[in-house]
Amino acid sequence: MVVAMMSGTSDPLFDDAVRFIKELFRDEHSGHDFYHSIRVHKNAIDIAEREGGDLYVIRLSALLHDCDDRKLFDSQDFDNARRFMTSAGISSDIQETVCHIISQISFKGKDTVVPDSLEGKIVQDADRLDAIGAVGIARTFAFGGSRGRMMYDPDEIYRKDLSAEEYYASTGSTVSHFYEKLLLLKDMMNTDTAKEMARERHEFMISFLDEFYRECGRQ
Ligand code: ADP
Ligand code: NI
Repeated sequence: MVVAMMSGTSDPLFDDAVRFIKELFRDEHSGHDFYHSIRVHKNAIDIAEREGGDLYVIRLSALLHDCDDRKLFDSQDFDNARRFMTSAGISSDIQETVCHIISQISFKGKDTVVPDSLEGKIVQDADRLDAIGAVGIARTFAFGGSRGRMMYDPDEIYRKDLSAEEYYASTGSTVSHFYEKLLLLKDMMNTDTAKEMARERHEFMISFLDEFYRECGRQ
């Protein structure tokens, strides 16, 4: 019942996918927990309602999108996503489509890819929406803490326009991550629906930073 509510339908495939990620992300506490994928799935359904696309592929890709993330798992060639899809009897064509979408959605600074399908664009937007706003702020500090990052360094000079290599190598403070990624996302949304959904979340981050700096005594 709870699973059906979270996946938005009683289709057993999606219930199984929800159960699979719940177990896979059981020990994940760096802002990429199970509920991140559930929120991305919900965002993706909301966007697809207005933008169209193949909902089966969108939902599967959204639920499985972080199963093989390099930040979290030491997996090769989408091992985790493929393991689930094979056990669920999903055709190799669909498996390739989903893995291709997942391979395109991550933020990589200047080297970020624009997905070549509507379904990929929607899942990328859905993931980005969960990286901004109040939830995005919380996730970012959770991630920074998990990796031993400083929360804020008043002497730090923020960098922009990072290549994928520079972005992955960054050891900056968590506040610097706002400039390296979070504040850029609203203008990188693919769909009009996500652009609209991003507006308030972006404004909330600006207010948060204003208040944060004010409390730190920064002009
Ligand atoms: P992507 O695949 O685009 O990286 P994810 O769903 O894996 O998207 O989530 C990325 C999130 O992880 C960021 O939005 C942020 O919350 C957190 N994160 C990643 N790198 C950092 C970092 N260097 N400092 C703080 N948070 C980070
Ligand atoms: Ni994600």
